[in-house]
Amino acid sequence: MLKPTIEAALNRQLNRELYSSYLYLAMSAYYDSINLPGFSSWLRIQAKEELGHAMKFYDYLSDAGGRPVMEAIEAPPKEWAGPKEAFAEVVAHERAVTGMIWALMDLAQAEKDHATAIFLQWFVTEQVEEEKSTGAVMAQLEAVGGSVGSLYGLDHHLAKR
Ligand SMILES: [Fe+2]
Ligand SMILES: [Fe+2]
Repeated sequence: MLKPTIEAALNRQLNRELYSSYLYLAMSAYYDSINLPGFSSWLRIQAKEELGHAMKFYDYLSDAGGRPVMEAIEAPPKEWAGPKEAFAEVVAHERAVTGMIWALMDLAQAEKDHATAIFLQWFVTEQVEEEKSTGAVMAQLEAVGGSVGSLYGLDHHLAKR
């Protein structure tokens, strides 16, 4: 059985993963609106991955004798100042999520909940990957500078994900 504090924290993270998916879908629509279909497609795939993360929390909650609870999902922004500003938010968001996963791990360890700690290990590793992949795109965006041609080249590259 899950302790109520752990169950509540896992449900909070389930909601945050759904928000991540929602945020990236909103960004996918934004990039599509500014004619960057590669960025749009990259974020659409990312949104699907976040939904997968949410389902891992859903399944673990259920398997561990808790109950997944569907709370309201916060509405993400609709507009961004530009392609670089939007992607900077992706990078910042992933860093924030890493902090949430680490806080969850701290809680699982403090409560001596070994099963939850082992479940969370996958997310600790996943966040290293998420920060790496989003950081790489951001570095490429920085390198593009003000060149529209390079931006379209990067967009074409991201369409291949
Ligand atoms: Fe995630
Ligand atoms: Fe993520």
